[in-house]
Formats: sequence, structure tokens, C-alpha cells
Amino acid sequence: DAVRQWLGLTELETRLAARLRIERAVVVPGDADRSPMVKREMGKVAADWLRRHAREGDIIAVAGGTTVAAVAEMLAPAPVFRSVRFVPARGGLGEQVEHQANTIASRMAQKTGGQYRLLHVPDTLSEEAYLSLSAEPHIKAVLDEVRQARIVVHGIGDAFTMARRRGADAETLERLRQTGAVAEAFGYYFDRDGRVVFAMRTLGLRIEDVAKADRVIGIAGGASKGPAIAALARNGVPHVLITDEGAARAILEA
Ligand code: BG6
Repeated sequence: DAVRQWLGLTELETRLAARLRIERAVVVPGDADRSPMVKREMGKVAADWLRRHAREGDIIAVAGGTTVAAVAEMLAPAPVFRSVRFVPARGGLGEQVEHQANTIASRMAQKTGGQYRLLHVPDTLSEEAYLSLSAEPHIKAVLDEVRQARIVVHGIGDAFTMARRRGADAETLERLRQTGAVAEAFGYYFDRDGRVVFAMRTLGLRIEDVAKADRVIGIAGGASKGPAIAALARNGVPHVLITDEGAARAILEA
């Protein structure tokens, strides 16, 4: 609209989408690193996008984090959501409860009048636990749904911010350093060329499932996330990016 045009946001969006080679970028004013209001604005745009793009019977996989949590808060009931099922993208990743994918999926269902399913998987899994849990009938049923999600909603984080927030041990941090990790999304770490350099051992959406999803929508803002967003885009993720001016300018000026 006229105001966005006047603010130069429309032009910023076009340049950003071209630079990242993604389908579409939506840029809200401000910088999430500086003001918490900006995250709410991104949440509002994402909630609106979901209402307009959700279809009857959709499975929507959602990742964790504070930004996707803001999307949940902005959702409201709509007829299409009644038959939609919100599922967590991945099992426990060591996040605080409010920002876990399980919590956000149930919150989205509650806000929209939709359905949800949970993945009850602990944060750190040994190889044996990982294998036996994936064979557990209840977990397997939810996993099958998660992996068929038509829409994936995820945040994007700076690799080291995320690793520390999840209490990664010294060995993991060193490994991330050596592999040149710059970005994190849904439990995967990426280098600046978008290559996966490390994956957390938890159940859920695999990177190949994300690649198969019809619509992948990433929500991340703040100038500090510029390099992480650019790295993810090199992997072909997401299709639609909802971000802010701070991140958009950081990416375009890099
Ligand atoms: C994690 C998600 O929980 O949150 C990631 O699994 C994302 O997809 C991260 O990178 C971002 O968190 P925030 O709080 O910066 O939105």
C-alpha cells in the first residue's frame, strides 16, 4: 500500500528477494534487535499469511523460538483452521518450555480453533534411544504426519547464539567453529554456503522433508541475523521470508 511504498519497504522487498533468490520477502519497519515490537509485527504478517494460505486438512509443522512464538500469539480463529493440524517440526532441542515447538503447536491450535499433535521426545537422545523411540507406535504416527507437512513455519538463528541458548557443550561449539557454522534452523546448523554442517539428534522433520514441503515460511529479523538468513537462503530455505528492515539492510549491504 501507499505507506509501505513511501517507506521504501516495497522496493526493499523486491531487492531482498532477488538477492536471496527466494520467491517472496516481506519486510516490516524497524529492527527486532532493538525493539520487541518488531517481532510482534513480523508475527502479525506471518499469522495473516497462514490464514490466507492454509487449506482444509493441512498439516502445518512449526519450529520453536521466540519469533515463531510471536506468530502463535497473533493467530485468530478462521474457518479453514478447524481442519488444520499443527505439529512440532522437531522434538526437544533444549529450548525453554514457552519457546518449544510442542508448546507453540498447541498454542496455535488453541488460538485458531485447529488441531494439534505433540512429539514427546526428550532433548538429548542417545543413538539407541533415538532408534527405539522412532519405532514407538505413537511417536511413529506423529512423525509420519510431521514429515508430510505441506507448510513449514520456522525461525532462523545465528549458529552460536542458538548453540549457547541450548547449552551446547564445548565439543559441539568447537565443532561448529571448525565447520564454519553461521546459521541454525529447526535443529540443523548451516555454513555460509548453506551446507548442513551439524544436526541435533532429535526426531522430526529432516532437511529432505523440508525440501519436499510445498510452502516453507521463515520468520526472522534483526540486523544480527543477516548472515544467518543469507546462509539459509543458499540452501533454498525458505520460500517466503518475513523479516524486518534491520536484517534486510544488513543482507543487502553485505
Ligand atoms: C529455534 C528454531 O527454536 O529457534 C529455529 O528451531 C530457529 O528454527 C530459532 O533458528 C530462532 O529463535 P528466535 O528466538 O531467535 O526466533
